[in-house]
Amino acid sequence: MDKIKSEYAVEVAELVKVFDKKKAVDGISFTIRTGTICGLLGPNGAGKTTTINMLATLLKPDAGTAKIFGYDVTKETQKVRQLIGLTGQYATIDESLTAMENLKIFARLLGFSRTDAKRKAEELLEEFSLTEAANRKVSMFSGGMRRRLDLAASLLASPPLIFLDEPTTGLDPRTRAQMWQTIRTLVKNGSTILLTTQYLDEADQLADDIVVINKGKVVAHDTPAGLKRSVSASSLQLTVKNPDCAPKAAQITERVLGGKAQVSEAAEVTIPLADTAKLADVLVKLKEMEIDIAAINVREPSLDEVFFALTGDKKEAV
Ligand SMILES: Nc1ncnc2c1ncn2[C@@H]1O[C@H](COP(=O)(O)OP(=O)(O)OP(=O)(O)O)[C@@H](O)[C@H]1O
Ligand SMILES: [Mg+2]
Repeated sequence: MDKIKSEYAVEVAELVKVFDKKKAVDGISFTIRTGTICGLLGPNGAGKTTTINMLATLLKPDAGTAKIFGYDVTKETQKVRQLIGLTGQYATIDESLTAMENLKIFARLLGFSRTDAKRKAEELLEEFSLTEAANRKVSMFSGGMRRRLDLAASLLASPPLIFLDEPTTGLDPRTRAQMWQTIRTLVKNGSTILLTTQYLDEADQLADDIVVINKGKVVAHDTPAGLKRSVSASSLQLTVKNPDCAPKAAQITERVLGGKAQVSEAAEVTIPLADTAKLADVLVKLKEMEIDIAAINVREPSLDEVFFALTGDKKEAV
C-alpha cells in the first residue's frame, strides 16, 4: 500500500446523478485525505448509496467528476477498481458455501497460497467471533454474522480505499462495537475509509471528518466536534429522589452550569450542558445539599436536531 502517494483518497467535484428527472445526488463536492475515515451522514434517501456507487464505478455520474487516488472513476475504471473494496450488499460472499470456504476462496483469489489462505481464514474467523460458525453455510447466518463475514473479507484484501455502506445498521451493541474496532484496525493498517451511516454517534466515534448530506446536497463538512458545536448543546437530565427537592436541584444546576433549568411535572430537571467536565461539580453540590438523585442522563443532540440546525428543516419522514 506504500505505493499510494496521492494526498487525497477521494476528490469529488460537483457530482450529479439523476433518476427519473429527480436529482438523487445534486452537485456534491468533498475530499477525503488518504489515511482517514470520512463519515457520509444523512437520512434515508439523502443520496449516500448513490454517491458511493458512483465512486465505486457501479453507477455512471450524469455530471461532475470523482477521483480515487487521482484516478478518474469514469475514465480509469479498472485502475479505480483495483484500489477499492466494497462491502455490504455487493460483497462477493457465496451464500451456498460455508464461512470458512468463502474466506479461503477469497484469499486464494487474492493470491494467497493454500496454507496461507487457510491460516488467514482461521485467524479472521477467530477475530470476528465466527470460529464456531466457520463450517456453517452463510445462508444460515444472522444479519450480524453476515456483516462480520463481509468485513472479514474486506480485511483480507485490505484495499487502500474501503467503502462501507451502513456497516452497523441493525447490529446489536456488542457486534457494533466490534465492527468499530475492526474499522479502526483497517485504518491503522493504512486503509482510507468512507462509511455511510444514519447515526451521529457512529460518525462521532469513527470519523475524522463528517460530510452531512440531505436531499442530494452537502449541508455540512466538518470534524465531529465542529459539527456538534454547530448544533444545540447536550443537555443534562436529573431525577431527584424526593420530588419536593426538584426546584432546589434546579437552582443548584443553574448556579453551576449557568443555563436555565426546567422542571417537569415528573420532577425531572433538564438544563443545557455545554461542558461535561462540570458534571462532577453539579453532583458534588447536590450531595453537599443532601439532595439524592434517582437518575441522571446526559443527552447528546439527536440526528434530528443536527438536521434541524443544518437545514432549518425537519428530517424527512422515513
Ligand atoms: N436505481 C434507482 N432508480 C431510481 N431512483 C433511485 C435509484 N436509486 C436511488 N434512487 C433514489 O435516489 C435517492 C437517493 O437514494 P440513495 O439510495 O442514494 O439514498 P441513501 O442516502 O443511501 O438512503 P438510505 O439511508 O435509505 O440507504 C432516493 O430518492 C432514491 O429513491
Ligand atoms: Mg443507502
